[in-house]
Amino acid sequence: MPESHPESNIESVLQEKRLFAPPPAFAKSAQVSSLQAYQELFDRAAADPAKFWGELAQQELSWFQPWDTVLDWQPPFAKWFTGGKINISYNCLDRHLTTGYKNKAALIWEGEPGDSCTLTYAQLHREVCLMANVLKQLGIAKGDLVGIYMPMIPEAAIAMLACARIGAPHTVVFGGFSAEALRDRLVDGKAKLVITADGGWRKDAIVPLKDQVDKALDDNHVPTVTNVLVVERTKQKISMQMGRDHWWHDLKQGVSAVCPAEPMDSEDLLFVLYTSGSTGKPKGVVHTTAGYNLYTHITAKWIFDLKDTDVYWCTADVGWITGHSYIVYGPLSNGATTVMYEGAPRASSPDCMWELIAKHGVTIFYTAPTAIRSFMKLGEHLPNKHDLSSLRLLGTVGEPINPEAWMWYHQIIGKGKCPIVDTWWQTETGGIMITALPGAIPTKPGSATLPFPGIIADVVDQAGEPITNESGGYLVIRHPWPGMMRTVFNDDDRFRRTYWEHLKPESGASLYFAGDGAHKDRDGYFWVMGRVDDVISVAGHRLGTMEIESALVSHPAVAEAAVVGKPDEIKGEEIVAFVTLEGSHQPSDDLAKALKQHVVGEIGAIARPGEIRFTEALPKTRSGKIMRRLLRSLASGQEITGDTSTLEDRGVLDKLRSEA
Ligand code: WT7
Repeated sequence: MPESHPESNIESVLQEKRLFAPPPAFAKSAQVSSLQAYQELFDRAAADPAKFWGELAQQELSWFQPWDTVLDWQPPFAKWFTGGKINISYNCLDRHLTTGYKNKAALIWEGEPGDSCTLTYAQLHREVCLMANVLKQLGIAKGDLVGIYMPMIPEAAIAMLACARIGAPHTVVFGGFSAEALRDRLVDGKAKLVITADGGWRKDAIVPLKDQVDKALDDNHVPTVTNVLVVERTKQKISMQMGRDHWWHDLKQGVSAVCPAEPMDSEDLLFVLYTSGSTGKPKGVVHTTAGYNLYTHITAKWIFDLKDTDVYWCTADVGWITGHSYIVYGPLSNGATTVMYEGAPRASSPDCMWELIAKHGVTIFYTAPTAIRSFMKLGEHLPNKHDLSSLRLLGTVGEPINPEAWMWYHQIIGKGKCPIVDTWWQTETGGIMITALPGAIPTKPGSATLPFPGIIADVVDQAGEPITNESGGYLVIRHPWPGMMRTVFNDDDRFRRTYWEHLKPESGASLYFAGDGAHKDRDGYFWVMGRVDDVISVAGHRLGTMEIESALVSHPAVAEAAVVGKPDEIKGEEIVAFVTLEGSHQPSDDLAKALKQHVVGEIGAIARPGEIRFTEALPKTRSGKIMRRLLRSLASGQEITGDTSTLEDRGVLDKLRSEA
């Protein structure tokens, strides 16, 4: 079991007494409109999960062929809706064309330079069919993995839906990842094709995506990739390799707009999304078709209370699971209008978010605590300049939200009238697991509140036994759910070890270990405190400390590196790297700069260390394990407390202190 570290400020959070009931006007017309209604759903799901999920699957989704068995559970491997045939692209598009949504806006897109467009369901369907046919023409067939490395433009969603339509699993790689990181993922997935763009706009600059793809594929490093499909976005000069690289706007002219959705088995691979863990390289989280479709559909519907008239905006990037589940699949499966924004708040437009809410009459806004904290810092005069009266519901995701930020969000953005759903979940869970249902569950600032119906969450101790008082423990899930990851891509063993073998209660029950520490209060509300493993969250981005260490030691000057997170007011955590140098290398500002840049090259800008601390030695146990707990205290300038008796050489600690 990893050492537990979020030095919990639980005394203060459990003293949070403020309770915000769902506003009556909101509750009245909500999808789930009272605590009692929630409780009934929850109890029904707990009593007979197969019946609960089976009924929803029938009511909410369109099937080509019904399933035989709702759940086949051979821990830790679950199969949902076996025997069924379905296609998520069909559920997100085709079925809405005959139910009155044909001319409804499916996607409202805003580019950073100010260009924008709206695609109706009919238009989006057409684009997806065209791209699906282009992929087929380039030799992509059912089961072939496609890499997607895109800016936040409609073609990113179109690419995902086109892959899903023909049964080609996708792996979206966040555009902020480096060529190296992209290459690793394409190699691991044995991708056959990459969809990218000439570039994308971010903070008034062009991200040169195609150049990065070229670098990733250089020297035949990814021999499985034989074609690259390039969307024109920024029109800057790029090189196009004959025979390998193709312009989307050229190829789409030559194909038909008719492309029936491929009937997929429920458990066919839908996508692989790489995420960081405490050990090794990022792992490919596997999600399959039917269960993921149902889970993202129903969570989007009930948690965001989707109505025909809503304009829903999730500010995530499609490179993360939030973008997959709650920009693309969940909202579109519901026939909702989803907003996509290419850019990010920046000096030239610090109020772009508020401007867009007013421009499009956004009713539901879903963002991350780190963003809220930076908005707070910029000041309330910015949101106050804009008409935010269309908003009726707010959401947060990605990390614990501090009550101050929650209150600011509630008062300044929501004007005190919008419920806030603080949604806890992970890449692995596919969809939201613990959250308020906005018309049903009273909220407490800083708590994700209660589990979604069908989700049996708990807090347990090291032995896997339930904690019955309010003290802290490990957050676990007790029963499989349709959106859960099925395995680690090509590594069942890693799946088992990472998530299912840490906590083994005497009863023999299988517990899904989320990697988070949490408390459950007297009302059964969950307070998620943060990771208990070597995973850190920097501005809501999940990074493994070991990945960053590997990147550092791949630099010739570095002998050893230990990376820890240090609390940061805006970003949640900031990366601090302790580094020992090889041979005659000497610490210097230039070297620190070079090392930071090296990490950016290996992983991407999101992993740039905030601070490099050169040291002569790292504190280790006698068995050679780096004592990160001590480094965390040092990094954040705290006193070192707790046991240091396992330290091999106490002199190292004194040295580190004096070097600080
Ligand atoms: C980790 C998962 C799931 C979408 C975004 C992140 C943290 C996520 C919350 C929340 C407290 C949260 C957890 C989790 N986290 N949401 N509402 N409250 N912590 O996905 O990159 O897979 O990261 O994010 O630590 O384990 P991810």
